[in-house]
Amino acid sequence: MHQAKNHILVIFGASGDLTYRKLVPAVFDLFNQGLLPEKFAILGLGRTELGNRAFRKKMKEGIQQFALNKPSDDGKLNQYLEKLHYFSFDTKEPDEYCLLKGKLRELDEACQTDNNIIFYMATPPSMYEIIPAQLAKQGLTDESQGFRRLIVEKPFGYDLETAQKLNADLLNSFHEEQIYRIDHYLGKETVQNLLVTRFSNGIFEPLWNRNYIHHVEITGAENIGVGMRGGYYEGSGALRDMIQNHLLLLVGLVAMEPPTLIDSYNIRNEIAKVFHSLRPIKEEEVSKYAIRGQYTASHIKGEAVKGYRDETGVAPDSRTETFAAIKLFIDNWRWADVPFYIRSGKMLPTRVTEIVIHFKSTPHHLFVNDANISKNYNQLVIRIQPDEGVLLKFGMKVPGAGFKVQNVNMDFHYSDLSDTYLPSAYERLLLDCMLGDSTLYHRGDAVEAAWRFVDPILKAWKKDDSIPVHGYPAGTWGPDVSDNLIEEEDITWRYPCKNLANDGNYCEL
Ligand code: BG6
Repeated sequence: MHQAKNHILVIFGASGDLTYRKLVPAVFDLFNQGLLPEKFAILGLGRTELGNRAFRKKMKEGIQQFALNKPSDDGKLNQYLEKLHYFSFDTKEPDEYCLLKGKLRELDEACQTDNNIIFYMATPPSMYEIIPAQLAKQGLTDESQGFRRLIVEKPFGYDLETAQKLNADLLNSFHEEQIYRIDHYLGKETVQNLLVTRFSNGIFEPLWNRNYIHHVEITGAENIGVGMRGGYYEGSGALRDMIQNHLLLLVGLVAMEPPTLIDSYNIRNEIAKVFHSLRPIKEEEVSKYAIRGQYTASHIKGEAVKGYRDETGVAPDSRTETFAAIKLFIDNWRWADVPFYIRSGKMLPTRVTEIVIHFKSTPHHLFVNDANISKNYNQLVIRIQPDEGVLLKFGMKVPGAGFKVQNVNMDFHYSDLSDTYLPSAYERLLLDCMLGDSTLYHRGDAVEAAWRFVDPILKAWKKDDSIPVHGYPAGTWGPDVSDNLIEEEDITWRYPCKNLANDGNYCEL
């Protein structure tokens, strides 16, 4: 792998949680593995008045807590901390960008970073309108002296209209090739492995289509509530927070055509094509294809837990969904009429993200109880997290008289690989941006296509009070009506457990 060029990483929003918990620790992990360029600096920008010393002290705590490679001695850590700088700065104030320009020039000279800069917007999204325009005004987006890249954190827009406007605004100041729209799911090793599972195995790809696949199920479950993020979540909900970005991305990777090459242009093209082929759901038919729910107070393992409406920052009559399930179709040659069921929720029984490919059953049931279980076997479970791995379920003869069939598992767990280091999503994505590789970042048109798909659902849920928000007790698998999305009798969602090989409603007890 080639080395990233010398540069400065500028973080807007450096006094925030993301910088503390994810960004600075992830860059430390890169530093630890020798993956940073020789000359490198981080410039943190935030409104809080801090000196370099105080900033470094705070970041040191973040690294000690959140870096994957915990620093064993202070030597290496201090070497890294020397690269961290802080500049008190009011992002909203246009006049201050001139000062920022001066600061960057000074830092570039002191650190010899060859005038290359990555800007990371880790601020509230309201700042996304201001930062790129002001950087452009100061000539800080011009690449004639060195590279300029911009990383945009989610949420990328609030709906289709705002996403389109944001894209247009960004393109007024930067070229598409300079813009890196982050979705941390793309940085997950197991998400990238989807491409390898599909396109490096002769056994799966020939079956990967409407002729052999009955339906596809994708779950992004969390067993925590909104915590201190109630204020943000109230204006977001599960559809915006998880489905429009992370879960649709997984749909894209499962459904895409083989790219001609593994590169940014080809992979992102194929993902965008899937999003463009999503069958639109009309506002008036939303109830048929989408279900929303909200967790209510309950007891989990004997302990009382709050309902969503009792969380800090949440309205007592809130109708924000903390659970969403959607049935969707992809109108193209490969997937015509194959249902994709996707769901995500907070306060479910366990934290798990997985994809289940359900293969069609045999055309004729030969064995005694074959018909009863045939709908359940031949599933390929691709586990994104936790207990990362892949599981294949198939029917096997129960030893003894007759021909009784039983479902068995064949499983691979990443944890079985010795000496394997799974980099964090931010570590991988930051390194890619440093290397100028945007393969694992979203392209503007794909983001808009994903919003175009969810937009009618958002609108119907906002306008039409007759569409119920189903309550579900915290710690359960969401509203039981979500099973109704799956029209076929005998088929329900899989109820996954923490361990890849287990499933069942009550397995986490
Ligand atoms: C974020 C959402 O994008 O993803 C959070 O804003 C959610 O609400 C998180 O908890 C889930 O990420 P992960 O990596 O824990 O699955």
